[in-house]
Amino acid sequence: MKNNSSKKNIIITGANSGIGFELAKKLINENYRVILACRDNEKGFEAEKKLGINSKFMKLDLSSYSSIDSFSKKLRQDKISIHCLINNAGIMFHPNNILDSGINITFFVNYISYFYLTLKIIDLLENNNDSKVINVSSISSYSIKKFDWKFFNPQSLDNSLNYRRELYAYTNIFRLMFSMELSKILKEKNYSTKSIACHPGVVKSNLGRHVFISRFIYKLPILPSTSYGVLPIYESLTNSKLNGGEFIGFDTKKQWKGNPIEVEPNPICKDDNLRNLLWGKTSALTGINL
Ligand SMILES: NC(=O)c1ccc[n+]([C@@H]2O[C@H](COP(=O)([O-])OP(=O)(O)OC[C@H]3O[C@@H](n4cnc5c(N)ncnc54)[C@H](OP(=O)(O)O)[C@@H]3O)[C@@H](O)[C@H]2O)c1
Repeated sequence: MKNNSSKKNIIITGANSGIGFELAKKLINENYRVILACRDNEKGFEAEKKLGINSKFMKLDLSSYSSIDSFSKKLRQDKISIHCLINNAGIMFHPNNILDSGINITFFVNYISYFYLTLKIIDLLENNNDSKVINVSSISSYSIKKFDWKFFNPQSLDNSLNYRRELYAYTNIFRLMFSMELSKILKEKNYSTKSIACHPGVVKSNLGRHVFISRFIYKLPILPSTSYGVLPIYESLTNSKLNGGEFIGFDTKKQWKGNPIEVEPNPICKDDNLRNLLWGKTSALTGINL
């Protein structure tokens, strides 16, 4: 990565594929430097090669506390200044493995890793003016009508598609509630870093890979191109009027696509007590707090 201190450094998790890769490409074209935080060496170096000198692959497996710890340590050792963390990596309909940490893989990658990585490096973000944490969520967060704690740290090995779909939706509402609660706490503690959530609508990517039918659907030519999904993330990054706590989606009824705009989250997310409880439980599980 070329060392030009006037450029802003952005971490994108899951930057070797889909929305993360397209976003990295766009940001590099606009003179940002991007840290490609990816779990797989081959895919990470390949992405770095394609994206050129203003990209840098750094190994990060978001299903592992120790990998997140090593990533955070390396940022400090190398004195890398961070302007924005974009929590983008995610999995959908993955078979329900329980990791060595005792945590379900989808729950860990999609939610716990957002919480743990962010709090691990929040001090590095706070060192820069106008720093942001951007948390990618999904319109699937709207599908939850009645909040059920059974999807927090779930131990069920039910591998039906219905269960996997519901768990995916829950991890997305957790990401969104985390983003809003983080914003509230950052403001209370007088941090200048802002926390913003967004969703990419529904776009082509490799997200459907774990189930035959969804693998097929996420490649359909009628689906908007991956670069469409980048727009709400880009808006979250570049709109200087955002104060933190917002949810950026699209200006259309179903929000599959459109122009990026601030949207109302699922009303469940507005319950202060519930968000606070979720924060407390997550902090107890991960052993980290702000
Ligand atoms: N596409 C959509 O329509 C859509 C809609 C709503 C929300 N989203 C959200 O958008 C985000 C990006 O998804 P996408 O559509 O671009 O899917 P994608 O093409 O499958 O990209 C997902 C990325 O996450 C990475 N990842 C998965 N597990 C990881 C781990 N343990 N550690 C580090 N990285 C890991 C993947 O790395 P590997 O390649 O190594 O697996 C890949 O780079 C996800 O959070 C998803 O939930 C997407």
